[in-house]
Amino acid sequence: MSLYAVLGYPVGHSLSPRIHEAFAALTGRAVRYERREVPPGQLAAALSALAADGGQGANITVPLKGEAFALAARLSARARRARAVNTLSREDGGWAGDNTDGAGLVCDLTVNCGWPLRDRRVFLAGAGGAAQGIAGPLLDAGIAALVVFNRTPGRAEALVAACADPRAVVASAGCADGPFDLVINATAAGLSGGLPALPAGLFAGAAAYDLMYGPKARAFLSYARAHGARQVADGLGMLVEQAAESFFVWHGVRPPTAPVLSRLRAEIDQV
Ligand code: ATR
Repeated sequence: MSLYAVLGYPVGHSLSPRIHEAFAALTGRAVRYERREVPPGQLAAALSALAADGGQGANITVPLKGEAFALAARLSARARRARAVNTLSREDGGWAGDNTDGAGLVCDLTVNCGWPLRDRRVFLAGAGGAAQGIAGPLLDAGIAALVVFNRTPGRAEALVAACADPRAVVASAGCADGPFDLVINATAAGLSGGLPALPAGLFAGAAAYDLMYGPKARAFLSYARAHGARQVADGLGMLVEQAAESFFVWHGVRPPTAPVLSRLRAEIDQV
C-alpha cells in the first residue's frame, strides 16, 4: 500500500484524505492517505519523517505552499509560475514540486459549472497566494481580461506585474472596467465569515465563484446573488478537481470526479 499525506496547519478539517481514498477505490488502487499537522517552519522535518515512513507524495495546504516551493528540488512550470507548491512527489531522494490549484479551478469552471472562459472578462478580488496561483491558468484558458482588485492596491499591482500579460490589469478607480462575465473571490475574508468590500454594479449579469466552499463562501455568494449574479458556485469542485490532478501526477490515472463531488456536496449543503 502506498502512503500519501496532506500537510498543513491546521489540517484537521481537510477533506483531502476522503477525496483521495475515494479516488483510490474508484480506480482500484491501494492508497493510504493521512493528515499531518505541520506548524510553519517545520515542513522540511515533516517531509523527512514522511519519506522515512515510505511516503511517496504529499499535498501541501495553507500556510505551507510557499515553504514547499522553497524546499522542492525540482519545480514544474506551473509551480514556478504560481510561486507555490500544493503537490510534492518523492523522486531520487528529493521532492518534485507541482501546483494543481489552477488546473483544478479551470476544470471546475469549464466542465462542472459549464462556464466557458475563452474571451470572457474576469474580475479577480484578492491578490494573495490564492489569487497568485490562479491568475496564470485563467490567462492560459483564453480569457479576454483579468481585472485585479485588492484591499491593499500595491499587492494587486504586484500580481498584475508578475502576470506580465497585457490582459491582466489593476481595477480602475470606481471600477469602470465592467461589465464582467465572471467575478472570482480569492480573498481570505470568508475565513471570518465576511466578504471583501467590492465596487457597486459588479455582479450584474455575471457568474460569481468563491475559491472557498461551504459556509465560508456563503457571505460572498449571497451578496453576489442579491446584487444580480446570474449563477454562483463555491470552490468545492475546485478542491475535488485539484485533488484529481494531484492523483494523476502521482498515479498516472485520471479518477472520475463527479461521484466524489456529489457525495461531498450533499454533506456540505447540510452544514
Ligand atoms: P491566501 O493564500 O488565502 O491568498 P494571503 O496571501 O494572506 O492568503 O492573501 C489574503 C488575501 O485576502 C489578500 O488579497 C487580502 O487582502 P490584503 O492584501 O489587502 O491583505 C485579502 N483579504 C483578507 N481579508 C480580507 C477582507 N476582510 N477584506 C478584503 N480582502 C481581504
